[in-house]
Amino acid sequence: MASADRQYAIIAGSGFQSFGGDAKGTIVATIFGEPSGPIKELRYDDHTVFLLPRHGDDLSIPPHAINYRANLKALHQLKVDSVIAINTVGVISQNIHPGQIAVPNQLIDYTWGRAHSIYDGTGTLDHIDFTEPFSEELRQGLLQSAGVANVNICDGGVYAVSQGPRLETAAEIDRFQKDGADFVGMTAMPEAALARELGMDYACLSLIVNYAAGRGENSIHADIEASTMTAKMQSMKVLREFFGDVE
Ligand code: HPA
Repeated sequence: MASADRQYAIIAGSGFQSFGGDAKGTIVATIFGEPSGPIKELRYDDHTVFLLPRHGDDLSIPPHAINYRANLKALHQLKVDSVIAINTVGVISQNIHPGQIAVPNQLIDYTWGRAHSIYDGTGTLDHIDFTEPFSEELRQGLLQSAGVANVNICDGGVYAVSQGPRLETAAEIDRFQKDGADFVGMTAMPEAALARELGMDYACLSLIVNYAAGRGENSIHADIEASTMTAKMQSMKVLREFFGDVE
């Protein structure tokens, strides 16, 4: 359940363009430039929640080209306390399948060349403690809501963040698995670290949409086509339970 005294934001990934309907959005300027798109206000029964389209309204911004610093800074300027990051992932672990959703509890960052810190040589540098990259309170809130909504959700797992925009080779997935990864996606970093630098709670609600490279029987794109809607519906049920009904 969402807390009455916290301001929440959702960063929504591909597949969520229509989320928020025709709610009006606002572009929020930051010292890092503009975020990916206008930030909308979703009105649930009990909460107003900011919604930021990670890849832009027209899905034109690929994972490696997102202005993550502007996105997180804009949410911080709107006094957001907690960020729910909806993203899609491929699954590496056995016994977890496309169509399910997950709330990972760890990550490994394989990205490179992304502006990944708000510290740019001015101000006092804070080496954030990133032992636990996700907010446990927010994770538990999402898991609890999934339980109440009767949604089967995977509690925990290691999210490997790859650079994209291409998908991985089978050998890369073998390596990620040896490293301990359960899922692979492209956007949790630097989002999670920037949120921590700015003092905002952050957790992922991950839609499992395919078996990772070399793991499935069908092509990755066939998996994605077949599973995205199911996983998306599960995530919407969790959010509805977490925030209350949409007005
Ligand atoms: N790899 C990386 N990112 C992804 C995948 C994948 O298999 N599926 C969805 N996002």
